Amino acid sequence: MSQAAQSSGAPQPSIDGFDAVEYWVGNARQAAHYYRTALGFRLTGYAGPETGVSDRCSYVLDQGEIRLVLTGALDPDHGIARHHHAHGDGIRDLALRVSDADATFASVVAHGATPLQEPAVLEDDHGKLVVAAISVYGDTVHSLVQRDAYAGAHRPGYVAVDEPLPHREVGLRRIDHAVANVAAGEMDRWAALYQDALGFEQRYHFDADTIRTDDSALMSKVLADRRGRVKLPINEPAAGPKRSQIEEFLDAYGGPGVQHLALETDDIVSTVAALRARGVGFLSVPPEYYEDARARVGDVDESWDDLERLGVLVDRDDEGYLLQIFTEPVQDRPTLFYEVIQRRGSQGFGAGNFRALFEAIERAQARRGNL
Ligand code: FE2
Repeated sequence: MSQAAQSSGAPQPSIDGFDAVEYWVGNARQAAHYYRTALGFRLTGYAGPETGVSDRCSYVLDQGEIRLVLTGALDPDHGIARHHHAHGDGIRDLALRVSDADATFASVVAHGATPLQEPAVLEDDHGKLVVAAISVYGDTVHSLVQRDAYAGAHRPGYVAVDEPLPHREVGLRRIDHAVANVAAGEMDRWAALYQDALGFEQRYHFDADTIRTDDSALMSKVLADRRGRVKLPINEPAAGPKRSQIEEFLDAYGGPGVQHLALETDDIVSTVAALRARGVGFLSVPPEYYEDARARVGDVDESWDDLERLGVLVDRDDEGYLLQIFTEPVQDRPTLFYEVIQRRGSQGFGAGNFRALFEAIERAQARRGNL
């Protein structure tokens, strides 16, 4: 625990949820097309030279409560371009919605968070927005966004856009969790920071024996704000005979970063069928998985035949069950991927699927020559 935390007690910042997730990418225009046509997002906003923003282009994409912003630089020496050079396409900002950006920023910095941007008021004809930011693992940041007095398109500098493509959403509703990969020995430090500075609680701790295949292992802690609106698992690699998927990520991304976003649906069968029909690739699951899962999980409301046909994984705990599936990485480097998840009571993360899942990931890793 930091000295500040010892002297001033546990903070109680009020985190209202994810505000938006901003990606820094090599070609935002083309990436936005993929997120719209393949993943069912709607283009709702844009910022760039045409709107008075001279150094970048940003596309705002919405689906359900999820907001993604894809940003690319126009100048090779821009920080966004250097970030892309180092990391490839990736998540820069897991922005958090707060009710008081000034107070939250002051509190989290006093309790040990690294300040990146002091609270700033951004204003236009649609109202005002207060934004501050802190730095976390690697080059990842959390903006702290107070937008209760803003009615415009995302932020000042953006204009609203009417989606010009025929729009077919796939039923993604909200961000369930966002997972960090950090270096060996770093998980506890970051877990402590979220607890000390942001007032998060540790919900789960998976040790290396829980998340292990014959070849490799990892450890994970799940941090969440007290109301459970923001869940942030943190992984680190553990010792194993071969290189873990976390190590592959760290090498490919050039350091720690966001490994996956889990997007929640209320109907995973229709969502995954729609995504597959649009060419989204998922990790393949061995047929033996379903023999085991039908016995382990028992009766579910969905058709087991549908789940097996679509490759959806199922896990049950005391509270109920959950359904989940993982995409292949969505850019050239084997870094960021997505999880689609539906919760039927369970608030877990699919611990019963870890082994089956990681063996599937390792088959893909071996095909890339990285195992
Ligand atoms: Fe996940």
